[in-house]
Amino acid sequence: MAAVTADQTTQGTAGTAEEAEAAHLATFDAAVAADDRIEPRDWMPEAYRASLVRQMAQHAHSEIIGMQPEANWISRAPSLRRKAILMAKVQDEAGHGLYLYSAAETLGTSREELLDKLHAGRQRYSSIFNYPTLTWADVGAIGWLVDGAAITNQVPLCRCSYGPYARAMVRICKEESFHQRQGYELLLALSHGTPAQHEMAQDAVNRWWWPSLMMFGPPDDASAHSAQSMAWKIKRHSNDELRRRFVDICVPQAQVLGLSLPDPDIRWNEKLGQHDYGAIDWTEFQEVLKGNGPCNEQRLTQRRKAHEEGAWVRDAAAAYADKHSARPGTAGAAAQPVEATA
Ligand code: ACO
Repeated sequence: MAAVTADQTTQGTAGTAEEAEAAHLATFDAAVAADDRIEPRDWMPEAYRASLVRQMAQHAHSEIIGMQPEANWISRAPSLRRKAILMAKVQDEAGHGLYLYSAAETLGTSREELLDKLHAGRQRYSSIFNYPTLTWADVGAIGWLVDGAAITNQVPLCRCSYGPYARAMVRICKEESFHQRQGYELLLALSHGTPAQHEMAQDAVNRWWWPSLMMFGPPDDASAHSAQSMAWKIKRHSNDELRRRFVDICVPQAQVLGLSLPDPDIRWNEKLGQHDYGAIDWTEFQEVLKGNGPCNEQRLTQRRKAHEEGAWVRDAAAAYADKHSARPGTAGAAAQPVEATA
């Protein structure tokens, strides 16, 4: 963005602080209106920064908590090929968390601080990861529906007004596409397998369908942040718009899979040129958000345990980095004299 940087905000001499603030806000608003990217050193309203941290933290937490339901099946995958695919996918989710925590760090919040808030239950992660993976077909249903919903929600985030978030999303969406395809292919194989395999696939779709629709967030008239986030071009579409788009994508795919969606009210709406769908149980959604979903406690307990058990890795990495930066002939050491003479 060709805007005023945060450093420059302190350098102006003319006018009052209020006038300077108004000028910066006007520059920011013009950049958003022109679809320019806001970059870390640009001036931005504190509420914009806070809203981005809120959403990006929830997103990053979802990626790493989202490793748990599927990791549950790595040791029981039915073939070496399926095991290799699933391991790659779960590792990708860790990588997505890393991109997003790094993007959030550009806003002045450390990964450590965000993780502390997650572990203390002070920041959210997606409702979807509070459901159990009961059978192997759940791995397919998660790929098809959960990752499919994630892509539908996240492709527009590649055009988010905040540069680091938008750029992280480009790579994440490419990987999510692979995740969605592997789930779809897995379900296709099961659906056309034995009657028991078909039944298992259908049961998984029945259980994951409604929670996947809830991933898009509350309905528009109950969405606290949508209006402001859309004005700032953090979000490009409302929760309901994306949910309906997702239903439109899934209906023909379910037909190819030979599986049905567990909603008798899905039908084509000629006037809208989209599908209508049945009522979502928002009470269930609110309960999951309050911590009362089937796996909330298990997910957070496991996350805290993994964090504690990984302390030695973080300590070792920090010690290695210190040693590396002090060693003569390394980039870190070379940088020191430059700093000393600056
Ligand atoms: N699970 C948990 N919390 C949710 C969910 C959900 N599915 N949907 C909404 N919420 C929360 C919001 O975080 C917000 O809580 P807060 O006020 O305490 O922060 C509250 O419910 C109200 O919702 P909205 O006002 O609609 O919130 P927002 O405008 O942020 O929209 C959405 C929610 C659509 C999830 C948005 O934040 C978003 O697009 N996030 C990025 C994508 C993402 O996080 N995906 C995670 C799952 S995908 C994956 O990891 C594979």
